[in-house]
Amino acid sequence: MANFNFFNPISTEMELLEQELSKKLDSRIELLNESAVHLIKAGGKRLRPAFALLSAHFYMDDLTEVIPLAVGLELIHMASLVHDDVIDNSQTRRGTETVKSAWGNRVSIYAGDFIFARALSLIATYERSNVVDVLAEASMKICEGEIIQMMSCYNVKLGLKNYLRRIERKTALLISVSCQLGAMIANAPEQEVRALRNYGYYLGMAFQVTDDILDIIADEQVLGKPTGSDIKQGVITLPTLYALRYSPRREELAQLLASPEACRNETGKIIDIIIDTDGIDYSYYITRHFARKAQKQLAFLPELPVKKNLYNIADFILAREF
Ligand code: IPE
Ligand code: IPE
Ligand code: MG
Ligand code: MG
Repeated sequence: MANFNFFNPISTEMELLEQELSKKLDSRIELLNESAVHLIKAGGKRLRPAFALLSAHFYMDDLTEVIPLAVGLELIHMASLVHDDVIDNSQTRRGTETVKSAWGNRVSIYAGDFIFARALSLIATYERSNVVDVLAEASMKICEGEIIQMMSCYNVKLGLKNYLRRIERKTALLISVSCQLGAMIANAPEQEVRALRNYGYYLGMAFQVTDDILDIIADEQVLGKPTGSDIKQGVITLPTLYALRYSPRREELAQLLASPEACRNETGKIIDIIIDTDGIDYSYYITRHFARKAQKQLAFLPELPVKKNLYNIADFILAREF
């Protein structure tokens, strides 16, 4: 598990989370057990559970009640990653083999479903239908986001609106509900639940824009997953959209991106064209914009030390390399 400074107020709970994560996936079918636990052992930043715990911490000191939610959120996130790696044909994740690469597509489908179903059974223990509603809605949106992305591949005519729509659904909403549900479990006042939900939303948008930047410029070893993967799949992200509009070689770029063969075989050339524009700087400017909007929402929350932690996560997301 990553060990960030902003985890300090919840470090005991984050350890508990790790124990619960491995326990909760225990299936008596060895193949399911191994494939599902594989990704947990590989680590990951555990940001979604941290958001839930930190949000609840505004309203309660003993966070035991939030642990099932925290585990459930990480499991839903992981289920989406197991399936995403099938769709994106990715061989590495969290610095190790993907479930897809180690066990193949068929096992990945069931491993993902198993992990997701486990999350549901945890969330059901709250016996709060509004909590289930919010999570069900976010899970449906993730599928919508991934499908919109699939349908938008190689289409150089789609613009910013399509991009924002798909990153909102595939990423921002789960981060948003992580904050919202943490606050809801802790019975926060409605206006503050809303502020935390908005904070998570803007931060989630910033988070995916940085993910898309990193796909183009990161060090693969540090990132722990393949770079250039979006371009290889024909997924057009913010830096690429910028280049399609402002690069002196935009016509050539549009032709390359519209061709699945070129995306696969001339990835390096496409990356060079993008990097030669201000597309990366522009995208960082957009992440800063979203992160600042997130930080502004914190004004609606009580003046407690945990506020600083949420503030700092926004800064981390802007500068992250993995
Ligand atoms: C990866 O999420 C998928 C995206 C939404 C970009 P993370 O970057 O949070 O992945 P882990 O959990 O740290 O591996
Ligand atoms: C996020 O998109 C995937 C999910 C929300 C499931 P990406 O495809 O960009 O995520 P990575 O880069 O593979 O982690
Ligand atoms: Mg992917
Ligand atoms: Mg990505």
